[in-house]
Amino acid sequence: MKPLFLFVISSLFVCQGYAQTDPNLGIIPVPVSIKKSTGSFQLEKTVALISNETSNARTADLLNAFIVLQGGFALREAKTVTGGQKAVVLTSKGAERLPEEGYLIQITPGQVKLVGSEKGLFYAVQTLMQLMPKKTNDKISLPAVEINDYPRFSYRGLHLDVGRHFFPVSFVKKYIDIIAQYKLNTFHWHLTEDQGWRIEIKKYPKLTTVGSVRKGTLLGHYPGVGNDDLEHRGFYTQEEVKQVVAYAASKYITVIPEIEMPGHSSAAIAAYPELSCFPDRDTPIKENAPWSGSRKGKQLQQTWGVFDDVYVPSENTFKFLQDVLDEVMALFPSKYIHIGGDECPKTYWKESPFCQQLIKDLNVGDEHGLQSYFIQRIEKYLNAKGRSIIGWDEILEGGLAPNATVMSWRGEKGGIEAAQQNHNVIMTPGSGGLYIDHRQSNSPDEPLSIGGLAPYTKLYAYDPVPKVLTADQQKYIIGVQANMWTEYMETPARVEYQLFPRIYALAEIAWSPIDKKDLTNFVEQRVPVHLAKLDGTGTNYWVPTPLGQPEGTVKGGDFSVSLKTPIPGAKIFYTLDGFRPSENTTPYVSELKINVPQGQKKSLKTIVIMPSGKRSVVTETVFNNGAPEVKTK
Ligand code: ACM
Repeated sequence: MKPLFLFVISSLFVCQGYAQTDPNLGIIPVPVSIKKSTGSFQLEKTVALISNETSNARTADLLNAFIVLQGGFALREAKTVTGGQKAVVLTSKGAERLPEEGYLIQITPGQVKLVGSEKGLFYAVQTLMQLMPKKTNDKISLPAVEINDYPRFSYRGLHLDVGRHFFPVSFVKKYIDIIAQYKLNTFHWHLTEDQGWRIEIKKYPKLTTVGSVRKGTLLGHYPGVGNDDLEHRGFYTQEEVKQVVAYAASKYITVIPEIEMPGHSSAAIAAYPELSCFPDRDTPIKENAPWSGSRKGKQLQQTWGVFDDVYVPSENTFKFLQDVLDEVMALFPSKYIHIGGDECPKTYWKESPFCQQLIKDLNVGDEHGLQSYFIQRIEKYLNAKGRSIIGWDEILEGGLAPNATVMSWRGEKGGIEAAQQNHNVIMTPGSGGLYIDHRQSNSPDEPLSIGGLAPYTKLYAYDPVPKVLTADQQKYIIGVQANMWTEYMETPARVEYQLFPRIYALAEIAWSPIDKKDLTNFVEQRVPVHLAKLDGTGTNYWVPTPLGQPEGTVKGGDFSVSLKTPIPGAKIFYTLDGFRPSENTTPYVSELKINVPQGQKKSLKTIVIMPSGKRSVVTETVFNNGAPEVKTK
């Protein structure tokens, strides 16, 4: 047996080497159609930028600012082309013939023409910026090409949990910038949690004076090895929320706020204990939970998980939630308000005489019926104000609220059921690789995470439309989203590490036609170019492991291993003696012949190191020729 993993091309690519041989021109998400022709457009400072419509002025400026970055010059903005002047033209004329959010790019040696509605032109500019290399001889060369493009799904989302860890407005804006670059259109802002309430509500000031401050945080993986004894606090003022919403809107991104109910509400209950079934009971703290400060009274949670103290479905609670939602609706113009609905234990409702009487009075059968009543009542309130609810798939239990959209996270089952009941669905299953808090590889070098393995290739392989649905039912799958839960992410840099390169795969499954899916092209040609652009920019990312190297054990005695660097400019270093590879060990240059005597094994360990010094995790392949297996961690 002679497994050959990949042909060696070279480990010393330059960035353009990838793009020039790439039929998809390095664009992520891959467009619907790319027709290359011959020649190129030479962008130089004498070229005019024509944009007649005030609605597109901001997009024209965005393009010009990027040209300054790449070329060191700005284009002169003009209303019309004069004579045979070369120009970049942005126009909405003809956009009425394009699909929703669609755009057209035509690059010929004489002109660059972008056609689209306001939003379509924004996406056209995102694509054009991806096509734009740095200048050579004071010119930026663009390939002659026609690109026709529009999204597969209308909902293309990325989530951020700011409850477990708070992230500053500056980072939230950066996150939005990244979302926009990859043609996602929805930012799901998870604002309330057991461990922190993060949005100012003027009518209930204790939500932030009390609910946004926890006294300490679990150290290590749950159940933990201690508590950091550090106060963790933070919330967004209403002014800041308005800023974020406006900033996102300027990038054609809708912000959907999530206000969790009836579960995940410990922070709100710590602020206003009467929201609990048992206001006088101490917060249920897991036995032996490492804790900082008092365990008495109502507390924010300091560990992770699901907790029994949830909202009591009393008139007082509904008044509170309606007041909160009134302030939330005034801040967020989104059609959707996410009301959570997940992981609400029924223990307290079972124990509570009030809840048991309410179940009888409402004739809803049991606690699931009570949850359904809770959600439907909130839905009715929001519908009356012209809004619609999204809930996690638990909102199916006990009967779905009539107009609800379901976020399917516990696999696809909930999404399938909801689509079969003619409800809109957003697919976010962990089983599809969409829980990007999971680790990116099995290397012991991966930082502490919640668990689970979700490499970017897994996400790329996911199709949000389940095959079991009929063609009619499939129309209810309105989109897809990746979720960034932050129990184990304390810093923006860590969030970025979890995000890249998985956001590229998310963008592609959300936007691109399924028949354009091409894993090899994605992994070997386009992802490398995008990651290379990040290196040294102050944005963190996960450096992919060498292409062609399997993780884990392969059986046999005689191997030829051909590796390829995952990013242009990166170098691979390796060891075959079990030691940790580094820039001081052997650089990989060409195919490795590995021979393992019968009854023995050999370990190949590699590391990828970027010109900036940034490095990958160490990847280990064990070549085993009949040696006894030893359990690894
Ligand atoms: C969830 O992950 N609890 C929606």
